[in-house]
Amino acid sequence: MNRKFRWGIIGLGKIARKFAADLALVPGAQLHAVAATDLERARSFAADFGAARAFGAYLDLAQCDDLDAVYIATPHHLHHDATLMCLEKGIPVLCEKPLALNSAQVRTMVDSARRHRTFLMEALWTLFVPAFEYALERIRQGDIGQVLGVHADFGFRLPRDPASRLFNPDMGGGALLDIGIYPALLAHSVLGVPQRIQASGAFGPTGVDETCVFTLLYPHQAIATGHATVSGHTPVEARILGSSGAIYLHSRWHHPQRVTLSQYREKEVIEQTVELPYEGWGYHFEIAHVMQCIQEGLLESPRAPWQLSLDLMETLDQIGAHMRQNVL
Ligand SMILES: NC(=O)c1ccc[n+]([C@@H]2O[C@H](COP(=O)([O-])OP(=O)(O)OC[C@H]3O[C@@H](n4cnc5c(N)ncnc54)[C@H](OP(=O)(O)O)[C@@H]3O)[C@@H](O)[C@H]2O)c1
Repeated sequence: MNRKFRWGIIGLGKIARKFAADLALVPGAQLHAVAATDLERARSFAADFGAARAFGAYLDLAQCDDLDAVYIATPHHLHHDATLMCLEKGIPVLCEKPLALNSAQVRTMVDSARRHRTFLMEALWTLFVPAFEYALERIRQGDIGQVLGVHADFGFRLPRDPASRLFNPDMGGGALLDIGIYPALLAHSVLGVPQRIQASGAFGPTGVDETCVFTLLYPHQAIATGHATVSGHTPVEARILGSSGAIYLHSRWHHPQRVTLSQYREKEVIEQTVELPYEGWGYHFEIAHVMQCIQEGLLESPRAPWQLSLDLMETLDQIGAHMRQNVL
């Protein structure tokens, strides 16, 4: 491509601003068009980030015939429809996590990408952060032996606000889909699809899960645990425990810049901490990856493939069902 790669963004909230800022860090990338539900806000966002075109309706952006990819950053409940709208126009899509509200929707989205021969990836940005990649590579190389446990938390305190998407059940609110997805992603990345799932949840007055805890059970007695909450701050750390060592992903582990590898020797533990700092928010790694996939003519990412999104959402579906049966 001898011109810049033209991105569009649908839904101009908090994450869209960070994404647009990081896009400027990616060589060859350009923010071309943005769409909000309000034209004035779209114009203001376009002015802030140098986009040439601004629309007051998502459908108008999907009519653009000069986009190379669209990033969908609406609340969860709109991911499905916005993605289908773009895929049907043949526009490649990077859609925020969770890819949809449930696995039935994810299957429809993947089927659409396949049918329209158009790229689709869930924005699982963690997978592309160098310190996270480094940790996974050490595990693959057998540096901690056989994995026995994967433990991660993700919590922050949000004042209960029924108007916020996080507390609104109609918008897919709740801790599990918004942040519980990260511990589940870590478990899937290290151990794959669980054999059995146990979970409990604490539900608030608006009906969404404000806290969820889950255990994923694997063959050979390996387990993964996750704790996500919007009721209080947690350390946001992750540990992967193996038969001959451990990996600690320092806070905030879902986009780490520091990893400590411990290896158990006969009489001592050898520790090595690796620093892999980066500039920006950390979204530029996934942006560059998506551009490369599309330029190579791929329909899905080899590192965040459709099957991963399907498996992950099936796990979240099951955790959700268990949570509702085991209310804390
Ligand atoms: N990867 C990450 O690190 C990360 C971090 C935060 C959030 N996320 C994901 O990104 C998505 C958006 O999160 P956010 O925190 O950016 O949300 P947000 O700040 O609430 O913004 C969402 C945007 O969606 C648009 N929207 C359309 N219909 C809406 C409705 N009925 N109610 C509210 N907003 C509506 C809004 O308006 P306009 O279209 O008019 O702009 C708004 O700008 C979520 O799916 C979330 O899981 C990812």
